[in-house]
Amino acid sequence: MSEIDWNVLHNAAIAAMKNAYAPYSKFPVGVAALVSDGRIVSGCNVENASYGLGLCAECGLVSNLIATGGGRLIAITCVDGQGNFLAPCGRCRQLLFEHGGSHALLMTDDGPQTMAHMLPWAFGPDDLDRNER
Ligand code: THU
Repeated sequence: MSEIDWNVLHNAAIAAMKNAYAPYSKFPVGVAALVSDGRIVSGCNVENASYGLGLCAECGLVSNLIATGGGRLIAITCVDGQGNFLAPCGRCRQLLFEHGGSHALLMTDDGPQTMAHMLPWAFGPDDLDRNER
């Protein structure tokens, strides 16, 4: 398991945020995560003239995670346009939970929090395994 360097993650999230395409909300978001194999993946929000089609930064991160070889998310930092820690929206907590599970850590103003804390009573892959498919 790789050591978590939160400073590296914060800087990677800020770098991604600077690439955000957010002309409509003017609310750029960046996110970066440490993966189980030690690499760093990141993402930024990408909006659309058809407002509802905008992609959250976390969508980009998950896409980047899978496209570069997969693995598990160990630690995640999400930032707003000022570089302040941002609590991901509900949908994105679900996305992060899928690829990090309940033990993944998310940086907040109160320090690192587990995904179990950020998304209590989460529905996830284990729930599907309880039924025959
Ligand atoms: N946004 C994200 O990228 N991630 C979140 O977790 C919260 C919201 C984006 C969506 C939209 O482009 C902008 O922030 C304003 O809501």
